[in-house]
Amino acid sequence: MDNNKNKVITTNIKDVIETLPEIPCMPAVVGQALNILDDPNADIKQLATTLSMDIAITTQILKLVNSAYYGFPSQITSINKAMALIGFDKVRSLIMSVAVKPMMMSFSGKALWNHSIRCAVGSQYLAKSLNYGDPDEAFVMGLLHDIGKIVMHIYNKNAFSEVQKLVSIGADTLDAEKTFFGFSHTEAGKVLVEKWNLPLIIGITAEHHHNPLRAPETVSSSIVYVTDKITQEQIKYPIFKPEIIDSFDYEIQDPEALREEIFKLSQPIIEALS
Ligand SMILES: [Fe+2]
Ligand SMILES: [Fe+2]
Repeated sequence: MDNNKNKVITTNIKDVIETLPEIPCMPAVVGQALNILDDPNADIKQLATTLSMDIAITTQILKLVNSAYYGFPSQITSINKAMALIGFDKVRSLIMSVAVKPMMMSFSGKALWNHSIRCAVGSQYLAKSLNYGDPDEAFVMGLLHDIGKIVMHIYNKNAFSEVQKLVSIGADTLDAEKTFFGFSHTEAGKVLVEKWNLPLIIGITAEHHHNPLRAPETVSSSIVYVTDKITQEQIKYPIFKPEIIDSFDYEIQDPEALREEIFKLSQPIIEALS
């Protein structure tokens, strides 16, 4: 019964994403760059040549590479050099940040962008602390965890602000979204990430970051769950569901200090791309 219900909702979101003309696409060079990153025979020069075809993307990448987040001692002025210094294993997060920033800013504003970058940096930080998977991929999981909110905003701006009002007085986010939209930002995020052909795990964490224990693989979604809670702008003292923390095998001794650290680490990216 539940399966049938989920299927109907998923189909509706797919229709929404396929039919709304405003739903953002990945810029062409970003799609090509991501394909190059997945190709074991590709080299960094090929990546730089592809990215340099888009001047706006190149400019943003250079701004970010020259920010305090990367901390290179001298000014980097060419995309070739930038790619060579950062390397294949860390460049995906940088390209994705540059690609989604205009989408987030134009549809959901600065609050979503700041929260997403903080969640990206936090997910990378926790993945490193846990020695779990690829920290660069964890960054992208955090960056895109709420990307479905863009879809909701495009679909019905007024309903989106009604949901925000209800959540601000204590309503459950997913329940409020389902009441107003018939689908949640987690479901919409999964479908959008699939449309963009991003790795499966990015869709899984977008879908399960509010309920990580329902994910087929729980650790990555739990990482995003924790950082999502920690990086809420308005809530300084996050409350975690104990069963999620227990399953997670990571002791958060001082959430407030962790929050401060993540906010501090994220600030150079937020400033560089502002
Ligand atoms: Fe969320
Ligand atoms: Fe979030």
